Amino acid sequence: MIKLSEILPHLIHQFKSENDLIRAIDEISNKFTKERNKIGDYLKDPRLVAAYTAFYLLTNIPKLEEVLKWLPGAWMKELKNCDFIDLGAGPGTFSLAWKGLGIGNGDFYQVEQSELMRQQGLLLWKGFHQEKLYQGAKWEWKNDRPKFLLFGHSANEMGSDEAIRYIEKINPEHILFIEPGTKDFFPEMLKIRTYLLNHQHSVLFPCSNVLSCPMQNKDDWCHQFIHIKQDSEIERISQMARKDRKLLPLTVHAYSRNFKGENPQERLVRVFPETKFSLEWEICHLNQLERYQIMKRDLSSKEIKDLGAVLAGASIESELLKELDQYNRVKILKVK
Ligand SMILES: C[S@@+](CC[C@H](N)C(=O)[O-])C[C@H]1O[C@@H](n2cnc3c(N)ncnc32)[C@H](O)[C@@H]1O
Repeated sequence: MIKLSEILPHLIHQFKSENDLIRAIDEISNKFTKERNKIGDYLKDPRLVAAYTAFYLLTNIPKLEEVLKWLPGAWMKELKNCDFIDLGAGPGTFSLAWKGLGIGNGDFYQVEQSELMRQQGLLLWKGFHQEKLYQGAKWEWKNDRPKFLLFGHSANEMGSDEAIRYIEKINPEHILFIEPGTKDFFPEMLKIRTYLLNHQHSVLFPCSNVLSCPMQNKDDWCHQFIHIKQDSEIERISQMARKDRKLLPLTVHAYSRNFKGENPQERLVRVFPETKFSLEWEICHLNQLERYQIMKRDLSSKEIKDLGAVLAGASIESELLKELDQYNRVKILKVK
């Protein structure tokens, strides 16, 4: 795992102190959450670009690792020989994360509109790797090798129309979105989903099939959660900056043109507060929302604890015990 102290020498701005870094992290985080209209501002300030890099690189590496656990193992084999395209790469957090996993044999491309971010991305890449990095403000290369396109927290900034334009231009075999788990972004993700399903792509995650999303006309949105284990230095900084980076909401979608996996039929999309007697889950079951009740009396304390820790995003297999008016009483056979 890369440590914060290893990143600091490769930043385009050197912070005078830890407090100086924390103040900059606070500023960026406000721009992401409270001042969305000024979201582009941080891209023009070397201090904020450096703070972004220090803070988010170290959380995006474990984030990618956790997300990949949800995806079919056989798909990873397909991705292995693809060129990796980090779209809206910022300082290349996900390029470094993908490279660090040692899976990809292809070339690395970073498409990033901000010149400062590209500078930061190059400095960081050179700090850790010898291989060539292709970088540009837009997609400007031509090759016929299969491509794995990753949108990391960027489709939400550029919007669905721009994301689709990039997909049309790059024509990737495989696409992964790791985006914020926000309600605002969900309709945008659905537009991209519709486009991809109409253009020879299959959805690998999170949906079980190509039918329309059961949440699309509801006051709700499909998103997932992950727990990540952080480097101790960044954990301390997160605490000082009062940012919870351990339990993260996110929107993950994966698509492929040629890989046909067998998608799980049941996915946990919401965990309701548990009752004295039961665990209560909302499941997307073959693109229908169903409420599952899991009775505690049928479980050992360890099973209750383990199932109580399962987060939205997990796929499950269940056995129907009783069909009731409002919900299904089930036994959980498998969680992944
Ligand atoms: C929140 S940052 C994410 C950076 C990195 N992918 C990550 O997850 O750490 C979003 C990035 O998308 C870039 N971006 C937004 N719209 C873009 C566009 N139309 N073309 C290229 N990059 C874009 C921004 O400049 C910014 O660096």
